[in-house]
Amino acid sequence: MPALTVPPGVEGIVAMHELPDPAWESRWTRIVVPEEVKERLLNFTLFSLRHRARIDAVRLPVHGLIVLAGPPGTGKTTLAGGLADQAARALGGTVVFVEVDPHAFPSQMLGESQRSVARLFDRTLPDLAGRGAPTIVLLDEVESLAVSRGGASLETNPVDVHRATDAVLAGVDQVARACPNLTFVATTNHSVGVDAAFLSRADLIEDLALPNAAAVEQILRDTLEQVVGSAGLDGAKLGPLAKACVDAGLDARRVRKLVLRALASRRELVLKPESLRLEDVAAALRAEST
Ligand SMILES: Nc1ncnc2c1ncn2[C@@H]1O[C@H](COP(=O)(O)OP(=O)(O)OP(=O)(O)O)[C@@H](O)[C@H]1O
Ligand SMILES: [Mg+2]
Repeated sequence: MPALTVPPGVEGIVAMHELPDPAWESRWTRIVVPEEVKERLLNFTLFSLRHRARIDAVRLPVHGLIVLAGPPGTGKTTLAGGLADQAARALGGTVVFVEVDPHAFPSQMLGESQRSVARLFDRTLPDLAGRGAPTIVLLDEVESLAVSRGGASLETNPVDVHRATDAVLAGVDQVARACPNLTFVATTNHSVGVDAAFLSRADLIEDLALPNAAAVEQILRDTLEQVVGSAGLDGAKLGPLAKACVDAGLDARRVRKLVLRALASRRELVLKPESLRLEDVAAALRAEST
């Protein structure tokens, strides 16, 4: 399904998509995280989208807010989209996925960012949810939106930033009450920089760690098979290479990029990528570590 056009005059939204979309399935299936993490994410999302309207928020405070935290390149942003796609499949209808622009609220504009944030939560998002479809809103890099009020000095963290954070908190509460068909997925690679009251509102916080050897092996296999096919791959040698990647502290994105670097290391490989060998990838890793 095509991306939806963001209506004119709507600020703070980068993109909107109608899901499910076959092209989005790999954002879920090819992101390697423990199966129970995916299970929890999907369960919470479905619970929130299906049942929040009927729940007494004092007895069971469901905000419809999931936080994905973890180092760069661990799949947070990709998985958020994949989650929306999976939710649409499970619900058997359309889910609208809305991406909020984390940089649309420049904190240096005194007073302005607070007003923009308030507008986003008071008007823009309720309007989008008001169209009726289950809606998942991505707050990517939320540390830039809900800046910790306790963490930094007023000098580095102008009063306006604090007000913007207050506006985000009030906004999340307001949307939780008024839009039961809307669920937020927030990502951050700097959770200490995210306001504690924001994190306290999360129904589920999942920490995505750097991949372990088994995960790296799976990611290497997936990336290499894209290039050389499954027949051309000597699976037995993947284990040691995966371990070397873990020892080098590579995140999942860098593991995939390693294959790309190996491909670009020699002209023959650029012309004939299917002749890539594991030795080339190992050499790229050594080159990276030196
Ligand atoms: N856990 C993973 N399993 C497999 N591939 C991954 C994983 N994490 C990341 N990747 C690869 O890296 C790409 C970028 O990941 P993504 O942008 O989702 O990471 P992120 O955690 O949001 O990073 P950042 O904190 O820098 O925004 C993915 O599209 C995928 O190719
Ligand atoms: Mg990201």
